Amino acid sequence: MPSSKEIYHPPVMVKEVIEFLNTEKGGIFVDATLGGGGHSEAILKSSPNTKVIGIDRDEEAIERAIKRLEPFGDRVSIYHAAFSQIDEVLEAEGVEQVDGVLFDLGVSHFHLRGDRGFTVWEEQPLDMRMDRRQKLTAKDVVNELSEKKLAEIIYRYGEEKFARKIAREIVRRRKQKPIETTLELAKIVEEVIPKKLWVGRKKHPAIKTFQAIRIYVNKEFEEIEEGIPKAANFLKKNGRLVVITFHSLEDGLVKKIMKSLEGFKILTKKPIEPTEEEVRKNPAARSARLRAAEKVST
Ligand SMILES: C[S@@+](CC[C@H](N)C(=O)[O-])C[C@H]1O[C@@H](n2cnc3c(N)ncnc32)[C@H](O)[C@@H]1O
Repeated sequence: MPSSKEIYHPPVMVKEVIEFLNTEKGGIFVDATLGGGGHSEAILKSSPNTKVIGIDRDEEAIERAIKRLEPFGDRVSIYHAAFSQIDEVLEAEGVEQVDGVLFDLGVSHFHLRGDRGFTVWEEQPLDMRMDRRQKLTAKDVVNELSEKKLAEIIYRYGEEKFARKIAREIVRRRKQKPIETTLELAKIVEEVIPKKLWVGRKKHPAIKTFQAIRIYVNKEFEEIEEGIPKAANFLKKNGRLVVITFHSLEDGLVKKIMKSLEGFKILTKKPIEPTEEEVRKNPAARSARLRAAEKVST
């Protein structure tokens, strides 16, 4: 497996992000999910008059972004925080209003191809924390929550119809010995889901269960519910909110939140999808969906 330093996360839908954020005239932009810094770099390159305030709750992402964005000097400020803390970040930065905020949600290639327990394909400790200052890990969730709660999480955040059976099997197995690694969990799910539904297909049967546990561990939906409306409050008139999601549950949530924002015009009736050319070059972009809104009154 490549070390996380060798992994590259190609930013998705860069052209669309730059257009919807309307960075051409310059201004202050918040990249709420800095990751490898690819979108921030594109914002900074799109006009000499742009500044970026970057946020990520993953320390490794912060380290990479600092390096990548170094050439832009004081046009960039970087914060190790959750985007639900955008108010604190902007206060620390002494900024009252911004021209645009980008959320490129979910995990990065660094997570999926690294060694922190996000993958169903490699033997790794069950961790899945984006922010390692946090205490709760995937191992705690799998070994400590009740069968009912586990079933609820796997059903709700993974849309997994075998959720109850999977939860029952997890609880049965953990009585024999704690479930400690990604492959131990992946195998339990494999044993529950009928083979005819997954053998010979590319998608691993445990992907939905892993997604669900990851969302729970990182409180991803609570972060979105808190972070997007907070970010919207800091936009100037004509400021733009751009959100990229990677699965339908997340997209549905973002759609609902955008609709509920007062004084905003939705710019994307339907979510924008990546071009075929982009998907050909970067298959991971396949499920990306972009929604954007503009603040029309203050
Ligand atoms: C899809 S990646 C972003 C990739 C980035 N746009 C790029 O061009 O490299 C998502 C990033 O968001 C971070 N993240 C996810 N949820 C977060 C949250 N609630 N607060 C701060 N960062 C978060 C993850 O740690 C990850 O680095």
